[in-house]
Amino acid sequence: MNMSFKDNNEYGKIRVKDIIISPATLKDAPIMSRLYLLAFEHSPIRSIFLPQYTGMFGETYLRAAQTNKAKGLKRDIVSTDVVLKATVQFEDENGKLLQAVAGFAHCTPPCGPRKRTLWEWILSTIVFPIYNFFSPIEEAPVERHREIQEIFQYQLNATFGLGGEAYNRRYWHLHILCVDPDWQGFGIGKKLLKWFCDKAAESDSVVYLETSSMGYPIYLAKGFRVTSSFSKVIDGVDLCVPGMIWEPKVPQSSNT
Ligand SMILES: CC(C)(COP(=O)(O)OP(=O)(O)OC[C@H]1O[C@@H](n2cnc3c(N)ncnc32)[C@H](O)[C@@H]1OP(=O)(O)O)[C@@H](O)C(=O)NCCC(=O)NCCS
Repeated sequence: MNMSFKDNNEYGKIRVKDIIISPATLKDAPIMSRLYLLAFEHSPIRSIFLPQYTGMFGETYLRAAQTNKAKGLKRDIVSTDVVLKATVQFEDENGKLLQAVAGFAHCTPPCGPRKRTLWEWILSTIVFPIYNFFSPIEEAPVERHREIQEIFQYQLNATFGLGGEAYNRRYWHLHILCVDPDWQGFGIGKKLLKWFCDKAAESDSVVYLETSSMGYPIYLAKGFRVTSSFSKVIDGVDLCVPGMIWEPKVPQSSNT
């Protein structure tokens, strides 16, 4: 199925019935790794923006992505942030109801990642290190890793530090939002994004993200604004990932 962007809920004989947002579990890790690689396949920054180069996710599905790609998506992983998946329910041409995980989003809430459960602790401190020892993941060169971290840190400071547009605000940090290219344009990204914006509005926080060029027009249309923009050429690729925030609207007072 090779879809172009559609602004309605039909493609050929396929009709989308519902998009369900729910917490992702370990079992979803392989599919999320695959979605991540597919969604960023044509991104110009992909070659330097791969999970192991950003180093910000530790032993999450993202760290597993490359390994999974090489090894047939066999390994499970752990994330202690909020990771949501979007399951699309659709009818095929015979009217049969089917469903598929079509996108996901990964966010650190203002209170930070939650504590690991015992099972996650066992996986991340015992099982994965042993697994990694026998099946090592290609690591990013330390220098590149540092450069990318610096860009992210710089943009965060420019937004939330002294003099920043959102000085001292609490924020949901949206690291990844991605949708299977086959399912893009059906409103899945929008629904995932809304979940985080609603949460931010409930807790007087903002949503912060660093956007890819593909996400930029969509975030702009959804009310995000650029708060910092720093670009640096790394390995011949211009890494420009503007920091953006979304703020809940303050209700207008009736006597103003
Ligand atoms: C960015 C991304 C998550 C959007 O997901 P999506 O499910 O395709 O987006 P939606 O269908 O919910 O559309 C959201 C809005 O963008 C618009 N839109 C979506 N795809 C578009 C396209 N290719 N061209 C123009 N507009 C588009 C839609 O019209 C919609 O706006 P509306 O509310 O006015 O209708 C998806 O394209 C993706 O995974 N891209 C690759 C990964 C990436 O760059 N992620 C963002 C940075 S982390």
